[in-house]
Amino acid sequence: MTETLVLEDPAEECARRLAAAAAAGSHIALTGGGTPKASYLRLAGMDVDWSGTTLWFGDERCVPPDDERSNYRMAKEALLDRLPSPDEGGPRVRRMLAERGPSAGAEDYERQLRETLGEELPRLDVVLLGLGPDAHVASLFPGQATLDVQDRLAVGVEEAGFEPYVPRVSLTLPVINNARAVMFLVAGEEKSDAVARAFGREPTPEAPGSLVRPHSGELTLLLDTGAASRLATLPE
Ligand code: 6PG
Repeated sequence: MTETLVLEDPAEECARRLAAAAAAGSHIALTGGGTPKASYLRLAGMDVDWSGTTLWFGDERCVPPDDERSNYRMAKEALLDRLPSPDEGGPRVRRMLAERGPSAGAEDYERQLRETLGEELPRLDVVLLGLGPDAHVASLFPGQATLDVQDRLAVGVEEAGFEPYVPRVSLTLPVINNARAVMFLVAGEEKSDAVARAFGREPTPEAPGSLVRPHSGELTLLLDTGAASRLATLPE
């Protein structure tokens, strides 16, 4: 089941849904890129009991955590620094140690996931994703072999298919598609083609977003009118 919402302010709806998930004590994977920043800032201002929440990341660039390209840094500045510490009722934060390099960073994240959620394929409650103009998701880029990985929870990406061109660490499709809910936040007309390719057509490795279809979870698209403008027929 796909729920498609075309909204004037999808960032607000995203913040509301993340707040509800946090209040329910969830395992939530945050996304990077620029689009979610507005949402994280609003979420930081909401009155939420974070104490049962664990925040994960869908992908990371292989740079130090204080580098301006770091997804963690963006989330930290917009959200985490504004929340109480874990000892004072704030969320637990499990960041990707991507500064160790793509392979070591992916191995470590897989270990963190297994340690926290057990040996089975993890079932995250919410995976928030953005969509690149080339329809990439997390750091899974069009046509790359990482899209075929079935036996890993996190994967090292030696060559990014999109800027910033630094190696990455990314959750794999099996983990993303095993989530209870996957929520896309996509804004801007420059994403409209990618949105149509990811959600309006047949699945293809040339549009990684089209391979995100949770097996037994919900798929929600939070779009603004620009991003939705080429979705001729909205998916069911
Ligand atoms: C990253 C991301 C990536 C992002 C999209 C959209 O590290 O680059 O996590 O998948 O979500 O590229 O990014 P924008 O919101 O900046 O367009």
